[in-house]
Amino acid sequence: MAFELNSVVPWGRSMAEYREMFLLDETDLQKKIAGFGDGPASFNAEAAAAGFSVTSFDPIYQFSEEQLEKRIEEVRDTVMQQMAENKDNYVWDRIRTLDELEAVRMAAMRHFLADYAQGKAERRYIYHELPNRMPYPDGAFDIGLSSHFLLLYTALGYDFHIAAITEMLRVCKEVRIFPLCDLDSKDSALTADVIAHYQKEYAVTVKKTGYEFQKGADRLLVIRRKNEME
Ligand SMILES: C[S@@+](CC[C@H](N)C(=O)[O-])C[C@H]1O[C@@H](n2cnc3c(N)ncnc32)[C@H](O)[C@@H]1O
Repeated sequence: MAFELNSVVPWGRSMAEYREMFLLDETDLQKKIAGFGDGPASFNAEAAAAGFSVTSFDPIYQFSEEQLEKRIEEVRDTVMQQMAENKDNYVWDRIRTLDELEAVRMAAMRHFLADYAQGKAERRYIYHELPNRMPYPDGAFDIGLSSHFLLLYTALGYDFHIAAITEMLRVCKEVRIFPLCDLDSKDSALTADVIAHYQKEYAVTVKKTGYEFQKGADRLLVIRRKNEME
C-alpha cells in the first residue's frame, strides 16, 4: 500500500531530546548513527552541524520540502488540540506550557525543513520504509535509533515489529528504542514479546533515562549483538 502523506502526522523532536532519550554520550556521538522514523526531528540537522555522522530514514523523505511544510502546518492545530485534551498524560516540568511545547516542536521542525535540501543532497535523509531491506551491508552503522515509532504504534503488530527490528539489527550493531509505551501512555503490549524474541541471541537491556514527557515513559530498550563490547 502506498505511503500517503495525509496519513502522517509530522511532529519532530530536537537533538537535546534525542540525547536524553537514547542516553547518547560523547563516545556514542562519534559513531555512525542511523535514525529510523526520524521524520521532521531536528536531530540530524543539529548533529550534522556539530560534525557527527547521522543518517535518517523515513517514508516521508519521498516528499518535497514544500509538501512537508504544508502538512506540518495542516496538522499543527489538531495535534495541539489533542495535547490540550490529554494534558494530564504528560509531565510539564521542562516544557511548562502547551504554548512552549508548540514553540519547541515547531522550532525543531523548522530546523529540519531548513536543512532538508542540503541533507538530501548529502544523503543524510533517505527515503526508506521499514521493514523493507535496506541498501546497506551488515553492520554498516554502529547505533540504530527509533524515537516514538517502534513499540509506540502497537497496531502495526508483532510481525511488523520483529521484521523491522531484525532489519535494523542487520545494518546496525546496536538498536535503541524509546519509549516503551503505546499511544495511550500505557506500557506497550509488544515490549515483553520483543524482548523475549531477541534475548537468546542478543544482549537485551532496559535502561531508565532522565527523559519523561509522556508520564511513565522514561525507559529505553537496547538490543545489541552479543559480541559488541559495552
Ligand atoms: C511520531 S513520528 C516521530 C518522529 C521522530 N522520530 C521524533 O521522535 O521526533 C513517527 C515517524 O515514523 C515514521 N514512519 C511511519 N511508518 C514508518 C515505517 N514503516 N518505516 C519507517 N518510519 C516510519 C513517520 O513517517 C514519522 O516520521
